[in-house]
Amino acid sequence: MKVPLGCGVVLFSAASFAFPTSLLKGDISDDALAEITALAAKISHEAEAKRNFGRVKRAFDAGSQSVKTTGEHAYIAPGPNDLRGPCPGLNTLANHGYISRTGVDSVVTITTASNEVFGMGLDLAAFLSVYSGVMAGDIATVSIGGKPKSGLLGGLTSSLGLLGEAQGLSASHNRFEADASPTRADLYKTGNPVSLDLAQFEQLVAMPKGPNGYDLTVMHPFRGARFNNSVATNGRFFAGPFTQFAVNTATYLFTYHLFANFSAEHPDGYLDLETLKSFEGVKGEPGSFQWEHGCERIPDNWHRRPIGDDYGLVSFTIDALGALKALPYMAVIGGNTGEPNTFTGVSVTDLTGGVFNAETLFQGNNLMCFAFQTISAAGPDILRGLLGNALAAIGKLTDALNPVLATLDCPQLVKYDAALLKAFPGAGSGL
Ligand code: HEM
Ligand SMILES: *[C@@H]1O[C@H](CO)[C@@H](O)[C@H](O)[C@H]1NC(C)=O
Ligand SMILES: *[C@@H]1O[C@H](CO)[C@@H](O)[C@H](O)[C@H]1NC(C)=O
Repeated sequence: MKVPLGCGVVLFSAASFAFPTSLLKGDISDDALAEITALAAKISHEAEAKRNFGRVKRAFDAGSQSVKTTGEHAYIAPGPNDLRGPCPGLNTLANHGYISRTGVDSVVTITTASNEVFGMGLDLAAFLSVYSGVMAGDIATVSIGGKPKSGLLGGLTSSLGLLGEAQGLSASHNRFEADASPTRADLYKTGNPVSLDLAQFEQLVAMPKGPNGYDLTVMHPFRGARFNNSVATNGRFFAGPFTQFAVNTATYLFTYHLFANFSAEHPDGYLDLETLKSFEGVKGEPGSFQWEHGCERIPDNWHRRPIGDDYGLVSFTIDALGALKALPYMAVIGGNTGEPNTFTGVSVTDLTGGVFNAETLFQGNNLMCFAFQTISAAGPDILRGLLGNALAAIGKLTDALNPVLATLDCPQLVKYDAALLKAFPGAGSGL
């Protein structure tokens, strides 16, 4: 059975050939399925409302945009058994109890908290959460950091794990965690793609500020410089379709769009150094910054995006194209072949059997179509043979995201030659 996401996009294709059912160790609980079903209904409802009323640019409203940092949402540093990982957004949510302070939570809670606190669109948040639940968790639950010590995620009825051992986001290299990130170093450069790298943070902070502080006029050239640096220093640098065009793009866009402080004076948000430092868990001054694990914090008196002007899949797709227009040399996938400065591109034409090429990639929504379609084309065989609640849960969510992705109007990707990526020693489990 295929689970279509519309416009030829299939988020995850299940059951072309089945695992022997005896290999399936468990299923997600009825409660988890009920939660996911309710979330799917909420996403559909919102998509419907957007179709009927369009996107509305809201006036600033201090009351509804102010985010609570006291009481149950006070900042508390993680304890020794709490998990934190490569995403400063999720680390912040955990440090303030918007998701479990343990760092392990359901894809539903991670989705709704990202939406409520940061104004990330429910569609985009659900997509990222479900994707991480599948790639690094047990579909219903995921660790935002490393592998939980107990080995038990909440969504499962069996301690053995539905899809094998869930590793968490910290160990998701090339599936989610990717090279050339804003503040995290490349895995094969330092061995640590999870902690903030102070040199990279210094480099970002030293960039000349734009009209809205550390806005996209800063993020684009910073991203270009980070990409060039990875090519020049990481022999196993790898930029796959999903990591390069979706994940890497998102990390730079989120830094401005979701961390910025909104106000009447700055209706698109202004990101200053203090706010950036707070969300990234950095203390001190330029030249002597310090970073400690677990310090990501919502600054007091911070205001999120206007309610109803969420940063969702459609806004992200438009921005992603804008970013590549500013950085045309990044409209490539491929990697280094073992030594620095050996970047070799893979022909998009060859990879996709001609459905996309270097030119058409820039047309319409093709860039994001390509990134998302890769997931289904190269998607995890582990999902084949899913049964019961787990299959139903994936079905509900993909049905809800279907009309949203259909608005991207993607051409059908009929061929995807993932073998071409095997030429890169750093490609690992890349899609
Ligand atoms: C909704 C579920 C989310 C998931 C599953 C997720 C996951 C991740 C992962 C795996 C990374 C590492 C990628 C890399 O290697 O660079 C990352 C990076 C990042 N995420 Fe998230 N994230 C989510 C939501 C958010 C939210 C709500 C924000 C809010 C601002 C955010 C902001 C960021 C930023 C800024 C980075 C780049 C970190 C860097 O400087 O390198 N994310 N995220
Ligand atoms: C990155 O390298 C390309 C050449 O490959 C160059 O055109 C571009 O200006 C460089 N970007 C930055 C920010 O240094
Ligand atoms: C956000 O902007 C408002 C209005 O300028 C200001 O009062 C508030 O202190 C700012 N918050 C942060 C965290 O910078």
